[in-house]
Amino acid sequence: MRGINKSFGNFKASNDTNLCVEKGRLVGLLGPSGSGKTTILRIIAGLEIPDSGDIMINGKRVNDMNAGSRGIGFVFQNYALFRYMSVFENVAFGLRVKKESEAAIKKRVSELMSLVGLDGFEKRFPSQLSGGQRQRVAFARAIAPNPQILLLDEPFAAIDAKVRQELRKWLRNTIGVLGITSVFVTHDQDEAVEVADEIVVINAGHVEQKGSPVDIYKHPATPFVARFIGHSDAMENAASFKGFEAARDFAEAIVRPEFVRVEKRGLLEDYVASAEEGVVEDISFRGDNMEIKVRVSRVLLTANYSLEKPGLSVGEKVSVLIRRIYVFDGDRTEILENENLRENTVFI
Ligand SMILES: Nc1ncnc2c1ncn2[C@@H]1O[C@H](COP(=O)(O)OP(=O)(O)OP(=O)(O)O)[C@@H](O)[C@H]1O
Ligand SMILES: [Mg+2]
Repeated sequence: MRGINKSFGNFKASNDTNLCVEKGRLVGLLGPSGSGKTTILRIIAGLEIPDSGDIMINGKRVNDMNAGSRGIGFVFQNYALFRYMSVFENVAFGLRVKKESEAAIKKRVSELMSLVGLDGFEKRFPSQLSGGQRQRVAFARAIAPNPQILLLDEPFAAIDAKVRQELRKWLRNTIGVLGITSVFVTHDQDEAVEVADEIVVINAGHVEQKGSPVDIYKHPATPFVARFIGHSDAMENAASFKGFEAARDFAEAIVRPEFVRVEKRGLLEDYVASAEEGVVEDISFRGDNMEIKVRVSRVLLTANYSLEKPGLSVGEKVSVLIRRIYVFDGDRTEILENENLRENTVFI
């Protein structure tokens, strides 16, 4: 997509969207609700006409090509199986449109049923399937005509957490086997990280950043990305924290739990120059560790705390060591390390 703009009335759903997906890659579009993810897919598919900009597939401008000729498979945000058609007919739909022979259709549908693990389900109707099974049928239907691009719009949104996780793995593997260029929309960060080779963060109809999940997490390019990805706490007056004097040049700062270490008082005496004093405000059990909310001057920080460590209680005074923060000024984002820790070789 090159310089794509699309308004609905006076609302800009796509705002100079530039996005390039390499052949064979699985890219995840991640962004808050209403940020324009579905709009991007619909524009790629030809279901929505952009006001300006180019859509190129394989080097060819397809703006004027209708949806049916673009070679795109679409799995929609809501289940969109044809309710009055059997599973077989649902999957065969695109093949019938292409006027394939009955024998070719039978063969292809049967291949696809095996691929999606639904052998023997051909005669059922959508109402006789579980949510996960329906989405697998929707997937089979989308890829039946061998599209060159597959678009998936939150295909697992309506499915419960456990099954969704299995389906993610399944989708990743299946797309890997097929090698089909795919764009996958989600607003679930874990899902994006697990499924996609590459993540594109969308905000207000615009691409904020594109990169590997690790890259986006570790090096957010904009304040929006830093706040949107992972957990973060706003840090007022960051320059007053030990080791972060450099933050005075920036308007705002955030900190993430993995860079905050909480210890019982006295246990961080090697770090007197860099540790702050805090008060535990809340403790919650998170399965494999504790999540601690700790107040340091006016700022409430979140930290993870191992179950192996000595127990803490609410109201207890603790030592708090902040290793790294993210600072912003306008569109500029930077990572600041605790200066007083630079000489320390041993850390967390
Ligand atoms: N046909 C339309 N007419 C008017 N406004 C629309 C239309 N389609 C989308 N919008 C608006 O454009 C914005 C982007 O919508 P879009 O569906 O692309 O968001 P999304 O990122 O997919 O959100 P979600 O995660 O909730 O699915 C929204 O504010 C939406 O209300
Ligand atoms: Mg959507």
